[in-house]
Amino acid sequence: MKLIVVSNREPYRVETVRGRTKLEKTVGGLVSALEPVLRKEGGVWVCWGRKGQKTPLEVKVTSNFLIKHVPLTSADVSEYYYGFANDTLWPLCHMFINRTHFNNRYWLGYSRVNRKFAKAVSEIYSPGYKVLVNDYQLALVPKLLKEQGIKDTIYMFWHIPFPPYFILRFLPQRRELLEGMLGADVIGFHTQHYVQNFQECVREVLGAFYDDNAIYWNGRKIKVKAVPVGIDVNKWEKLTEEPKVVKYAQNLRRKLGVEYVGIGVDRLDYTKGLEEKFKGIGRFFEKYPSFRGKVSFIQIAAPTRTRLEEYMDIKRKTDEIVGMIEGRFGEPGWVPIYYYYKNYGDDRLASFYMIADFALVTPVIDGLNLVSKEYVVSRKREDGVLILSEFAGASVQLRNGAIIVNPFDEEALAESIYIALKMKKREKRERMKALREKVIKEDIHWWLKNFLEDVPA
Ligand code: G6P
Repeated sequence: MKLIVVSNREPYRVETVRGRTKLEKTVGGLVSALEPVLRKEGGVWVCWGRKGQKTPLEVKVTSNFLIKHVPLTSADVSEYYYGFANDTLWPLCHMFINRTHFNNRYWLGYSRVNRKFAKAVSEIYSPGYKVLVNDYQLALVPKLLKEQGIKDTIYMFWHIPFPPYFILRFLPQRRELLEGMLGADVIGFHTQHYVQNFQECVREVLGAFYDDNAIYWNGRKIKVKAVPVGIDVNKWEKLTEEPKVVKYAQNLRRKLGVEYVGIGVDRLDYTKGLEEKFKGIGRFFEKYPSFRGKVSFIQIAAPTRTRLEEYMDIKRKTDEIVGMIEGRFGEPGWVPIYYYYKNYGDDRLASFYMIADFALVTPVIDGLNLVSKEYVVSRKREDGVLILSEFAGASVQLRNGAIIVNPFDEEALAESIYIALKMKKREKRERMKALREKVIKEDIHWWLKNFLEDVPA
């Protein structure tokens, strides 16, 4: 398969040290899903290079996997990335209307950068390539590519929730956004719910028609599908066997010196429900004092979009609540929450997953959530309990096996931890088995097959 992946985020941070190119893989759902595919099958990845002028325009990862960077000016970065993408579309699609900021400069920057991406694609495109445009940062690219005369199938995958019409209608550029997306021939979402929202929006805003699987607009048929992204199961299973990963896990578990360990891995984003999660943990220690000193929770909060006030705000709040819990429940020799505001590589994450008796994946809203799947795949012994928010897209696939909670319900969160800790071995095994079967079956290759191999009629 000849594939061009287009996304805002780069699969690798590229650095030139003494004339040699160093590649360091970046973190994020999209990259962890698609990077192994291109590494294996080859293709081109078009993305923003982040470091501006110093980033080489093209980097060869393997003999047939090329990265093509789209250099952005500082005005582009402010208006497109920190602006329209993450200060307007991200909060709007996650239905945080009070965190959504509208600004025409944002929109102009977004349109300009989307044109830069489309131009970069057309420079490397040749017939026979499938083009896969990813996510809300690049909604206008599919239409621009169609206009540039690309005849092969254009795919667009929307990795975050798609909001219902009564939310999208706040957006002044709702028409342009939808028209941009409809330049694609196949549009994918993680859940049927998002598909329905999208269909409702195109009907209300553009007057388009639709049936179960397609939208009819401007004389074209555009397929729409719900296909949740999977993970590279092989890669994660192998990681959990690597001696250095196993050793780190064993040492860490010993050092923590508690009976039970919980894990959470999130970008530090207001959608991830960290405040709510910590309140639930606090309530758990309040309600079940006999577990104090016996359970420690590790929370990784990866920095992201740090220039935006909304992210500074959530960081302050998270720091504060962790401090409150430490201050209230912690004792010399026991830490209730280990909280790390930094990025960890997959090998370290695999170690964390391996030592965790339970995972708390409790976003207040999330397009899908791959951490839930990574945790499950790392539990080869079929133990461990997944506590999962009902508002994560992944809950559709994982409800049979996970403990499903409403993260706004502090009492239910506290209770879910208690249930996880008290759960009988047999029940744990049955649940984890069901989860593993699902995640293993619906992995990244399943996703590619079901999403990309679908050529419009
Ligand atoms: C989400 C989005 C991705 C994005 C990632 C990281 O998963 O769907 O498109 O790349 O977050 O966000 P960042 O702004 O840090 O690249």
